[in-house]
Amino acid sequence: MLTQLQTEQLKIEYLQPLEKVKGLERSLGQDIKEGLTQCQKKIPSKYFYDDHGSQLFEQICELPEYYPTRTEASILRDYAEEIAQITGICELVELGSGSSTKTRLLLDAYDQQNEVFKYMPIDVSAGILRESAIQLKQDYSSLQIQGLVGTYDQALTQLIPSSWPARMIFFLGSSVGNFSETDYENFLSKIAQVLERGDYFLLGIDLQKPKAIIEAAYNDSQGVTANFNLNMLEHLNREFQGNFDVNFFKHKAIYNEKKQQIEMYLISDKAQEITLKQLDLKVELKKDERILTEISRKFDVETTKHLLAAKKLNPVKVFTDKNNWFALILCQASQ
Ligand code: AVJ
Repeated sequence: MLTQLQTEQLKIEYLQPLEKVKGLERSLGQDIKEGLTQCQKKIPSKYFYDDHGSQLFEQICELPEYYPTRTEASILRDYAEEIAQITGICELVELGSGSSTKTRLLLDAYDQQNEVFKYMPIDVSAGILRESAIQLKQDYSSLQIQGLVGTYDQALTQLIPSSWPARMIFFLGSSVGNFSETDYENFLSKIAQVLERGDYFLLGIDLQKPKAIIEAAYNDSQGVTANFNLNMLEHLNREFQGNFDVNFFKHKAIYNEKKQQIEMYLISDKAQEITLKQLDLKVELKKDERILTEISRKFDVETTKHLLAAKKLNPVKVFTDKNNWFALILCQASQ
């Protein structure tokens, strides 16, 4: 249980749906409609993350084959203190915070500076956000927490300027790998826009490595990733009155070496017709037809640094692990 004072220092707010923000008239689920009526059918990755999907993702992070979480955590363990020293006291804004497990390594480092600091976790899953915020508030007494429920887009269009000496937005886990090249560039531009000169951006990226290591991470032997992928269909069923039957789909992840990205598919076991009533949508699937549900791009440090610099997010320091499997790039807004 939290005390009265602790409760005052913990707020959870819902961001406005973008559909309601002026000028953006796309209706809810429009992206699904577009994705499923293309030649290569796709469903946006954000639909993985209902409460159950977020839990499954937490399980993925613990899998022996899924190296990114563990590797990034080891980098944070080694360098969080240095990061906190470089930025000094600041407001910490995390995009896609999930359970904030790795974040604790950063919070510990800031906590050691013995000052009040503020953490703004942002996540689409209200359940996991609330639970972890309460837990964090119990463990870090001087921490102010303002959680925001919503997508990255919502957050980046609705974040107001910080009243703190500095702000660090961080985006861990290589989630940036889910974006297409264009969305990636637009995302970085948005980050640069939201930050004020001197503010920081900490980006976690999964690096290029042999295909076998990457494919194993996305086709785990316990089938958790398969469940995570399939759960997206259940999510759509619930949200848009759909009739996907997960028994007639299979999970597969393939590393596309040319594009240096994992591609996750749901493959239709048979010819079938899917209805999403709420979207007034009927979709014919052929036997073995693939729906693309996620790309996860793998990066190289030099190219990423150049792009960041071009976006006026100047790389200050790159932190990596002993195998060079993953990197954290700390940048500072120069404009
Ligand atoms: C949360 C987007 C970083 O791409 O590795 C894990 C999601 N998908 N296993 C990733 C994911 C399948 C993950 N990100």
